[in-house]
Amino acid sequence: MHNLLITGGAGFIGSNFVEYLFNRYPDYRVVVYDKLTYAGRLENLERFQSHHHFTFVQGDIADPDTLGKTIEIYAIDTLVNFAAETHVDRSIMAPDAFIHTDVHGTYVLLEAVKAYQLERALFVSTDEVYGHIPHGMSSVEDDALKPRSPYAASKAGGEHLVYAYHITYNLPVIVTRGTNNIGPYQYPEKAVPLFITNAIDDIPLPIYGDGRQMRDYQYVMDHCEGIDVALHHGHFGEAYNIGSGVETENMVMAHAILDLLGKPHSLIQHVTDRAGHDRRYSVKTDKISTLGWQSQHTFEEAIEKTVRWYVGNQDWWRPLKSGEYLDYYRKQYVERGSGSLTA
Ligand code: NAD
Ligand code: TYD
Repeated sequence: MHNLLITGGAGFIGSNFVEYLFNRYPDYRVVVYDKLTYAGRLENLERFQSHHHFTFVQGDIADPDTLGKTIEIYAIDTLVNFAAETHVDRSIMAPDAFIHTDVHGTYVLLEAVKAYQLERALFVSTDEVYGHIPHGMSSVEDDALKPRSPYAASKAGGEHLVYAYHITYNLPVIVTRGTNNIGPYQYPEKAVPLFITNAIDDIPLPIYGDGRQMRDYQYVMDHCEGIDVALHHGHFGEAYNIGSGVETENMVMAHAILDLLGKPHSLIQHVTDRAGHDRRYSVKTDKISTLGWQSQHTFEEAIEKTVRWYVGNQDWWRPLKSGEYLDYYRKQYVERGSGSLTA
C-alpha cells in the first residue's frame, strides 16, 4: 500500500484525512481525485500543494474514463472513497445528485477496483444507514440497514453494492460507518459550523423542531484515525462503526457553542422541523476497538477545538457564505422563518 487514491479528498473529512496520512505515513503517495462540487474546495488542499508526494486530479467518480486513467498514470494500489453528496437537507430538496454519486459513483469505483485489481479499497459510510435508533439501543454492524432520508438511502445503496462486489467478485473492500464529524474545514451548511459561523455574526441559530434530537458528534481526526485502522487492519467484506459513543442533544450542542463564544442563548430560534428527521443515532464501537482504535476527544474538547478553529479561520469560511450558499440558505430557511443571514 503506497499509492493511494483519495476520492472526495477536497471535502471536509477527506482533506483532514490527507493531513493525517502525511503525518502518519510520510512515504505514501497521495492522489486526491475530486469533482469539486460546492463542498469540494481547493483551499482545503492548499497546505499540501508543495508536498512532493501530493497530486490533485479533478474528476467525477462516476466517470470511468478519467478515473481509470488516473489509476493507471499514478499506479494506484489503494482507494479510500470520501466522495459523496453529504447533506441530508439537500437530499430532501434534490435527491438526484445523491443517486448519481453515492450509488452510481460507488458502482463505478467498484468496477475500477475490479478492473485494476487494487490491493484494497475502503468506502467511508455513515451511521445514518441504520435509521433512527430508539433510546436505550445502539447499532451494531450486523443490524439491518433502515435508512430514512434520500442521503442515508443512497449511502446504504452504495454499501450494498460494496458488499455484493465482495461476495460476488471477491473484492478486497472494507466499509466504515462514522457518526457526525466536527472540526476544521466543514462546509458551513452542517449544523455545527452553521451555528458557529452564525453565532460569530450574531445571526440566529435555526434549531429544527424541539432541538432534542441526538447526534454522536466526534472530532474529525478521531474519525480519520479510525478509518486508518480499518484500512490497515480491517477484514475484507466487513463494516466498522466509528464514533465517540456519546450522544448530545442539538440544544446542548447549540448552548455549548454560544457559551464558548460568549453569545446569548436568545440567538437560538426554533424553526420548522426537517421532514423525516431521525431523532437519534447511536453506535457501538466494540468491533473497531478490537483492531486497536479508541476515540481521543470528549464532546467538550471536540466542540471547543472546532469553535476555536472557526474563530481563527474566518478567511476560510467567510467567502463560502456567499453566492450558491446564500441561494441555498434562503431556500432552506426562508419558509422556516429564518431566511436572513443578517441579525
Ligand atoms: P463533504 O461534502 O465535505 O465533501 C464531499 C467531497 O466529495 C467534496 O470534495 C466533493 O467535491 C466530492 N464529490 C462529490 N461528488 C463527487 C463526485 N461525483 N466525484 C468526485 N468527487 C465528488 O463531505 P464530508 O463531510 O467530508 O464526508 C465525506 C464522506 O464521509 C462522505 O462519504 C460522507 O457520507 C461520509 N460521512 C460524513 C460524516 C460527516 O459528519 N460529515 C459522517 C459520517 C460519514
Ligand atoms: P446535520 O449537521 O445536517 O447532520 P445530520 O446528517 O446528522 O442531519 O444536522 C445535525 C443535527 O442538527 C440534526 O439533528 C439536524 C439538526 N439541524 C438543525 O437543528 N438546524 C440546522 O440548521 C441544521 C443544518 C441541522
